[in-house]
Amino acid sequence: MYTILILGSGGREHAFIHSLHKSPLCQKIFVAPGNGGTDDFAENVVLDIKNFESVAQFVLGNKVDIVVVGPEAPLVEGIVDYFRSEKLKHIKVVGPDAFAAQLEGSKAFAKKFMQKYNIPTAGYLEVSSGNIEEGYHFLDKLSPPYVLKADGLAAGKGVLILNELSEAKEELSLMLSGKFGDASSKVVIEEFLDGIEFSVFALTDGRNYALLPQAKDYKRIGEGDTGLNTGGMGAVSPVPFVTDELLDDVIKSIIDPTIQGIGLEKMSYKGFVFFGLILVKGKPYVIEYNCRMGDPETEVVLPRLDEDLLSLFLSLFDNSLETHICQEIPGYATTVMLVSGGYPGDYEKGKKISLSDHSEGTIFHAGTKKSEGLLKTEGGRVLAVTSLAPTMDQALKASIGTAEKIHFDGKYFRRDIGVDLKEK
Ligand code: AMP
Ligand code: GLY
Repeated sequence: MYTILILGSGGREHAFIHSLHKSPLCQKIFVAPGNGGTDDFAENVVLDIKNFESVAQFVLGNKVDIVVVGPEAPLVEGIVDYFRSEKLKHIKVVGPDAFAAQLEGSKAFAKKFMQKYNIPTAGYLEVSSGNIEEGYHFLDKLSPPYVLKADGLAAGKGVLILNELSEAKEELSLMLSGKFGDASSKVVIEEFLDGIEFSVFALTDGRNYALLPQAKDYKRIGEGDTGLNTGGMGAVSPVPFVTDELLDDVIKSIIDPTIQGIGLEKMSYKGFVFFGLILVKGKPYVIEYNCRMGDPETEVVLPRLDEDLLSLFLSLFDNSLETHICQEIPGYATTVMLVSGGYPGDYEKGKKISLSDHSEGTIFHAGTKKSEGLLKTEGGRVLAVTSLAPTMDQALKASIGTAEKIHFDGKYFRRDIGVDLKEK
C-alpha cells in the first residue's frame, strides 16, 4: 500500500486524486497545497512546493512513497534532481529531472531535440541579442503571421503571433531586451503552421511508454474560439478526427522518436510527456512539448483511462512498464471550465460558491478555497465539470446542465466545447 503526495492546486491535481484514490494499492493521498475540493479524497497540506527542502521534510515525516508533480515549475527547477540525495533516493518522484524538463522549459532546447531526432515541427531560428540581424533576415523570408516564442517559461504568455512584419521585428527586439525577463533573453522564431491542434499524452520511464487517451482543449475565452487566451476553458476526449491511421502516424513519426531521443540523450525521465500537436494537410507536427499533464486535459483524459494509474506510476520505477496503448473507457468525456467574471484579465476572488443539487458528472475543483465552512472562489479558473457519455453531444449537455446549477457571482463558461468537432 502506498502513500502519495501530489504537488499542485488545480483541476489537474483534483483529477489525479480521483483516479489514484480508486486504486486498491492506495493507502493515503496528501496534496500540497490543494484547493477547496481536493480534501474529498486527500488531505490538504500547507507547503511551498518550490521549497524542496520543506517538501522533503514532509515526505520523510509522513512516510510518503510517491510524489506526483502536477505543474512544470518544480520540475524545471529540479525537484527530481533534489530527490536524488542519499536520504531521499528511495522516494519515487513522477516527473523528469531538470535536464529533461528543458523539453518544456526551453523552446530552443526542444527545437534542437526535434531537429536532431527528425521529429516534424515548424522551421525555426534561435535568436539572442548577438544575432538579432539574422533574426530580422529570417523574418523577412517568412510570410505572415509571424510566431515569436520566449525561450523560457513565461506563465503561458511568452508566445506572440503577429500579422505585420514591422511589428514582428519590433517585438523581437523588445523580447530580447527583457519583455519577459530572462525567459526572453533567447527567442525562437517559427514558421506559422496552419491547422487544427490536438494533444496526446504518454507516461514514460525513459525507455517504454503508455499512451493515454488523446484530448483537445479550448484555450480562448469566447465561444467560437474568440478573444483572449486562457489556461483552458474546456476539453474533450477522444478527438473525433484522430483516426487510427492518424494515431499510427503520430506514434511512428513523433512519439517513438521522442521516447528514443529521451533514451539516447540519457535523460532521466519518469513521468508524463504532453505532445501539443497540430494537423496540417493530414500530417501531424509538434507545436510544443510539456513535461507534465495538461489542465484541463487531465480532467477528460483520466476519467477515460481504464487502467490503474497508481500501478502505471509504480511501473515507471521497476522497469516493468511495457510500451502499450492504454485501455480506454469508450464514449466521450467533456469538461467545461467555470471561470470568474473578468478572467483572463482582472477578476475578484472570494465569491461564495453554491454547488447544490448538481445532478450529473464530476466537479473537479481548480480555483476554490474553503473558508469558515463556506466554499469560495480563489482563482480565475474555478471549477471543471466533467461528464462521460456515449456521444460528445450528450457529454457536453450533461456538463452544461451541471454548470448551470452551480452559482457564484460572475460565473462564466463556454457552451461550445467540442462543438466544432462534431461534423468532422
Ligand atoms: P506553445 O506555447 O509553443 O504551445 O504556443 C502557444 C500556442 O501558440 C499554441 O497552442 C498554438 O496555438 C500557437 N502556436 C505556437 N507555435 C505555432 C506555430 N508554429 N504555428 C502556428 N501556431 C502556433
Ligand atoms: N491546457 C494546456 C496546458 O496545460 O498547457
